[in-house]
Amino acid sequence: MNASRRQLLRWGGGGLGLVAAAGLVRAIDQGVIEFGETPGLRAWGDWSTGRHSGPLALVSAGLLAASPHNSQPWRFAIGRLGVDVFEVPDRALGPIDPFGRERLAGLGGAIHNMALASTRIGRLATVRLLPDPDNAGHVARIELDTESAGAPPPHPLLGAIGRRHTHRGAWTGAPIDGVERGALLDFPRPDDISITLFEADSQAGRRFAALTNEATVAITEDAEMMAAAHRWFRHDRGEADRRKDGLTLATAGLPSLTAAAAAMLPAQDAATEGRYWRQATAEVHLPTASLFGIIHAPDETARRQALLIGAAWQRLHLIATGLGLVAQPLNQLPEMIDREAALGQPPRFAEAARALLPAGSPRPALAFRMGHANTAAPPSLRRPVSEVVGFPARLGYEVERSAAETAVRDAQLQRRLARD
Ligand SMILES: Cc1cc2nc3c(=O)[nH]c(=O)nc-3n(C[C@H](O)[C@H](O)[C@H](O)COP(=O)(O)O)c2cc1C
Repeated sequence: MNASRRQLLRWGGGGLGLVAAAGLVRAIDQGVIEFGETPGLRAWGDWSTGRHSGPLALVSAGLLAASPHNSQPWRFAIGRLGVDVFEVPDRALGPIDPFGRERLAGLGGAIHNMALASTRIGRLATVRLLPDPDNAGHVARIELDTESAGAPPPHPLLGAIGRRHTHRGAWTGAPIDGVERGALLDFPRPDDISITLFEADSQAGRRFAALTNEATVAITEDAEMMAAAHRWFRHDRGEADRRKDGLTLATAGLPSLTAAAAAMLPAQDAATEGRYWRQATAEVHLPTASLFGIIHAPDETARRQALLIGAAWQRLHLIATGLGLVAQPLNQLPEMIDREAALGQPPRFAEAARALLPAGSPRPALAFRMGHANTAAPPSLRRPVSEVVGFPARLGYEVERSAAETAVRDAQLQRRLARD
């Protein structure tokens, strides 16, 4: 990081004296100083105002889910039976996510939001994960019953969908009490998905922080990983408006005056971003958290489990939002475990993680921090419904599902006729 930028990040608002016309333009350009409407933020308003109805309302909620580096690796299709969700493998993090585990977690989060959103439109939904054995990229079909009878009432977490944002700033460190901890874990999940929480100032919490710092250093020293991360950073307003994805300075967690001052300086390269990220992890993210946590699964390279891990993270973050808490994934440790596995290197991070967890725990799949903050996190960019709806599932699958559905409906009709 060049000296002046680093000083600005440290001094906070003190750097504002440097305001110059060119810098102001760059700050506007990076979305740090708002000027005019940002097209990449409209999707948040679309959901909160209920712009989309029927199955499109599910898509409107799904695309607000968390995804790695805001890569939004999804495409949706509206069909006669409901909504299909597809993986877009090109929206990838490369060496940061060599097995596509994080990508599937993002999709799992979207599917989770969509299931909740079905209660807003009053339709009974059945989620089928990986429904088509001949198309692995068809990650879910959310079937919507044509009749509203038996549909559950609006879910209490619906309101949190549009307020959930990843918070990368400094927090207060105030404790999360036992009642809140209980509420965080109080949701149904499959037996193979488990969650461990550590108080930040406990021995396990300190070990988690040390390992996360080590993993961050390892990532920032890995030029391929940093180059991949850099590709998902949007440096100017035009790029952000056009692509509506990725990370920006506005969501980096800097106090607003600092962000404005930092945004006026020239764009960072990958190595500079790495140095800033390492500093933010060690000096802000880890020391100001109240709670750390890990979501595990026995075989987190399995596609179904990776989807469920993402759904669990989405749910945890929505519950935290509802409780007035803030949250941020800190996934450096699982990322380094995967990186070492992909390169065939000795599993240094996998072994260190084993020592951190109770004996026999499955491998960590998603690591995070939670806590309290005095400020709210801003929304991040999203492609709206119109940019993520595509073609329906493959024809062969449609034909088979239609035949199966017709058989079920015939059987229902026969039973009704026999009763009458
Ligand atoms: C699997 C996964 C891993 C993530 N890892 C990190 C991380 O290590 N650090 C971080 O700051 N955010 C991480 N995130 C959060 C995303 O960057 C964030 O969801 C995305 O930028 C969209 O922003 P939003 O959550 O505020 O809507 C992760 C999200 C997912 C789903």
